[in-house]
Amino acid sequence: MALSTGSKKIKTAVFITGTGSNLKSLIKFSKLKKSPISIKIIISNNPKAKGLRFGKIYKIKKKIFNFKKKTTAEKEILFELKKNKINLICLAGFMKILSKNFIHNFNGKIMNIHPSLLPKYKGLKTHERAIKNKDKYSGCSVHFVNSKLDSGKIILKKKVRINKKDTPQTLAKKILVQEHKLYPKAILKIFNL
Ligand code: GRF
Repeated sequence: MALSTGSKKIKTAVFITGTGSNLKSLIKFSKLKKSPISIKIIISNNPKAKGLRFGKIYKIKKKIFNFKKKTTAEKEILFELKKNKINLICLAGFMKILSKNFIHNFNGKIMNIHPSLLPKYKGLKTHERAIKNKDKYSGCSVHFVNSKLDSGKIILKKKVRINKKDTPQTLAKKILVQEHKLYPKAILKIFNL
């Protein structure tokens, strides 16, 4: 099934592991008239994820799954997503790698945000690596998810200047501000809005 808005908003699930600042920005965006998405469920692998509080604040259903048994967790998630007629998944700081089988079930309908200018610095510790390599810029990328880590089709990227004084922490903060703007823009772009 292709992504399409029709007249109704696309039922969306957001997956998180931690703070959930991207989740918050996506929820705010989803409430705008111009937004093609409506967030129906928040999924997390971490019962202690700070971002889960946004479920309570914005009255969005949340579900936690234990990834120690990944195959079972993914089966249960797929069941939950089908039950809620979810048609788009936004990974937002979700720190687990989804299996090929899971991705296949939502082929072309899973997006992710990554804190580097992909294809540079896939995986973890992106800010450390960019600073260590004396890069002038880093940034963030929104991409579709395929079965290879951080390697799916890039939808949008935003550059952020690295200053001499930047540490991984200060750079992460600057990039996060841009992430909050980039994810909604990427969603508008995939729906040709
Ligand atoms: C973001 O930098 C995201 O790109 C990365 O993890 C961070 C999550 O931040 N994958 P938050 O949970 O959205 O605040």
